[in-house]
Amino acid sequence: MSETLERWGSKRAFILAVTGAAVGLGNIWRFPYIAGENGGAAFLLIYAAFVVLLGVPVMMAEILVGRAGRRGPMQALGALATQAGASRHWRWLGVFGAFTVFCILSFYSVVSGWSIEFLVASVNGNFIQASPAEIGAGFDAFLANPGLLVFNHSLFLFMTMSVVAAGVAKGLERLNNLLMPLLYILLLLLAGYAATTEGFGPALAWLFVPAFDAVTLSVVLHAMGHAFFTLAVGACALMAYGAYMPEEQSLPKAAATIAVLDISVALIAGIAIFSVVFAQGMDPAEGPGLMFVTLPIAFSHLPWGAVWLSAFFLLLLLATWTSAINLAEPMVATLEGLGWKRGMASVAIGSGVWLVGVVAAMSFSVLADFRPLFGRNVFELVSSIPPDIFLPLGGMLIAIFAAWIMPQAAAAEALGSSERMFRLWRLVVRWVSIPLTLVVLLSALL
Ligand code: PFF
Ligand code: NA
Repeated sequence: MSETLERWGSKRAFILAVTGAAVGLGNIWRFPYIAGENGGAAFLLIYAAFVVLLGVPVMMAEILVGRAGRRGPMQALGALATQAGASRHWRWLGVFGAFTVFCILSFYSVVSGWSIEFLVASVNGNFIQASPAEIGAGFDAFLANPGLLVFNHSLFLFMTMSVVAAGVAKGLERLNNLLMPLLYILLLLLAGYAATTEGFGPALAWLFVPAFDAVTLSVVLHAMGHAFFTLAVGACALMAYGAYMPEEQSLPKAAATIAVLDISVALIAGIAIFSVVFAQGMDPAEGPGLMFVTLPIAFSHLPWGAVWLSAFFLLLLLATWTSAINLAEPMVATLEGLGWKRGMASVAIGSGVWLVGVVAAMSFSVLADFRPLFGRNVFELVSSIPPDIFLPLGGMLIAIFAAWIMPQAAAAEALGSSERMFRLWRLVVRWVSIPLTLVVLLSALL
């Protein structure tokens, strides 16, 4: 069985594929706005701790299951559970993961659609000479236009599902190869420019000097959710990629590299964005519009601003595209495992996601007062509950499966490292990652 499966071309290709899934809206759009709403440095510190204690060990658990199972998530979980003499019901974890990515993709596609709109606007030079107030008002007017939001969401989802339907996700290897370095360089340039503005000092202080009285249970919950979200962990999406991991690769090394790449993108973007926030006297807790308002303001002050801004939104769009493909893949793979044709599965999933996305897009205008649960509208629901609750819950169950349930010899082999490393990993997962996630979830929910 395992000989017939395709493998990623190289170790580097595997790392790039997972980095492509990890780096996306979570780093450049979600991190600054969630950090902004949760007090800055205190949030950042807790989030960084969660990345180390939960994100990276659980990422290893998730990829390891896929690697040991060498097939789609549902099938891998079922087969490994059977081997261990445990319940085959573990395979429903794959379905829960598919449900989680379904919810996430519905808002992810809407916000990626904003990048399409902003790319077009940048190419047209719309932001140049505009004042910060005009740029802010322009964004509000854009959000209030449901037709435009739905159009861009539809376009982005179509782009995503076409690639998934064709099953050419591996073609993105080459795109990632080029994209990641370019995105890095552009963000570094922007942060370099930010260092010359008077907002830079306050931004650094706000991001790195914690005020611990700002720490509440809700800050802790958001930090945990974002640690899972940014690393793409907890929805079996990386499990699917683990199935294609090269034989000789060390998983701990790969996971650490991916986490460092992912976090540094968020940090550089955060420094650039908050420098503008403080230089302009804006509110850090501005919400989902934060990045879409601050970056056009920053770039509009630079020589060749329209060119830089267009390049930025193009790279952002490509980065979210590779993440969205990773989000859609486990759903399509699950249906395929149940006997569906790939094309049909893509159409069915795409239609469902599209519908929820339309309702989410309209939450900024006509459906603003449609608040089905917890007083939150549909955009607020799908952009908060799945990252904050479903990903940690799914990640914890995956971790339990990897460190307690599946055959441990297979787990050790799939980690691809030394026996000592395996023992260390299992110690952390069993006695830190799993209990910590449980405690935070329970204290936040009860
Ligand atoms: N990690 C992606 C980001 O930071 O934008 C989002 C994501 C992808 C979350 C895949 C979950 C997932 F399964
Ligand atoms: Na990320």
